[in-house]
Amino acid sequence: MTQRNDQLDQWDRAHFFHPSTNMAGHARGETPNRIVTGGSGVHIVDRDGRKSLDAFAGLYCVNVGYGRTEIAEAIAKQAHELAYYHSYVGHGTEVSITLAKMIAERAPEGLNRVYFGLSGSDANETNIKLVWYYNNVLGRPEKKKIISRWRGYHGSGVMTGSLTGLDLFHKAFDLPRPPILHTEAPYYFRRDDRAMDEEAFSQSCADKLEELILAEGPGTIAAFIGEPILGTGGIVPPPSGYWAKIQAVLKKYDVLLIADEVVTGFGRLGSMFGSHHYGLKPDIITIAKGLTSAYAPLSGSIVADRVWAVLEQGSDAMGPIGHGWTYSAHPICAAAGVANLKLLDELDLVSNAAKTGAGFNQLLRDVLTDHPKVGEVRGEGLLAALEFVEDKDDRVFFDPAQKIGPRVAAALAEQGVIGRAMPQGDILGFAPPLCLTTEEAETIVSATRAAVETVLGKG
Ligand SMILES: Cc1ncc(COP(=O)(O)O)c(C=O)c1O
Repeated sequence: MTQRNDQLDQWDRAHFFHPSTNMAGHARGETPNRIVTGGSGVHIVDRDGRKSLDAFAGLYCVNVGYGRTEIAEAIAKQAHELAYYHSYVGHGTEVSITLAKMIAERAPEGLNRVYFGLSGSDANETNIKLVWYYNNVLGRPEKKKIISRWRGYHGSGVMTGSLTGLDLFHKAFDLPRPPILHTEAPYYFRRDDRAMDEEAFSQSCADKLEELILAEGPGTIAAFIGEPILGTGGIVPPPSGYWAKIQAVLKKYDVLLIADEVVTGFGRLGSMFGSHHYGLKPDIITIAKGLTSAYAPLSGSIVADRVWAVLEQGSDAMGPIGHGWTYSAHPICAAAGVANLKLLDELDLVSNAAKTGAGFNQLLRDVLTDHPKVGEVRGEGLLAALEFVEDKDDRVFFDPAQKIGPRVAAALAEQGVIGRAMPQGDILGFAPPLCLTTEEAETIVSATRAAVETVLGKG
């Protein structure tokens, strides 16, 4: 990869504090930067004129694809008419109210109220507060602990970074903090007892959850949070029976379920929500990314009617809820959301994610399962991952110092395709825009095969 050393590059190295980046290496110019200038459909272009197929849709968020003029025009129109008004004390705008209604129409039954934020992290922060408020209103001040899973990803704030179950997001930040607890990740491929079948493994996850609840005291456990399919923790679909068994435990101990659908919401799995896909009955759903396809920052907490009734009880007793962001339901972002959801319907992208996603996952399996260093090919809809192993039969993982995942991702980028080296384990992830075509899926798979062979040999 050629690197320019011009003024923009120098400003980048000197002034731009990038998230999730090796700060020292970047400042010293040791790691490549990439300055992206445009995009259309599933492709992005950088200032050096390099075009890449973005098989991770940014950060699994540009679901309708790049360059959609319908959304750009809706944003511009809203900015001209009314760039901002707040939503405190009963205020709203036409677009924010319309978007709340559109979300409720698409959400699973019984979830009808939407609180808007700006990021997945702040939405989960809202959810924690709602859960605490809920139990205070119900006169259960002890019921405050929230259980997350190891390898879950729920944001990188203080509380949401605590919910996240990845080492990188805890290390040197004094996280996780109480009252957040973690339980077993539903990661069948990495199970300790390799003789266990999927149902037995799911049962063992549910048993561990129950043990934790009993050890802590059911009267102290307020909520459980999980992504329908583990995302940043490795793109891992749940083992069979997992959600039914987990939900049975939650019900038994009166523990609320927060489904974090920041990645899975609005079609990524080929269903409108992951909750539809896996039969979840959440009390709160977190949404972000696919809500606007990242054309503007917007997130939300969709609240179930049964929780809403208690929140109403709270404001009858205590007055207005003391929670709000200046930019809640920002009209420019809401306009992007309305235009995005319309486009999702008009282009039938949820069905495309199911159909093209099934073909993409099948092709990945056909082409890569037999490679001796590919331990598992897994996925659902337009989410997929390859996990690399040193020894397949004995399931020996690579030494992380070898950086196999990042090296394969870099080799893939050389082929003109962007995948993501997931942060924990040698895992290459894919989450292309939902408008992906079969031909584009084939391009991703053949480039991936070439990248795997470059780093790990033909096998
Ligand atoms: C499942 C999930 N929840 C929450 C978040 C946090 O969202 P944000 O980065 O917008 O704060 C993410 C981000 O990737 C996510 O994948």
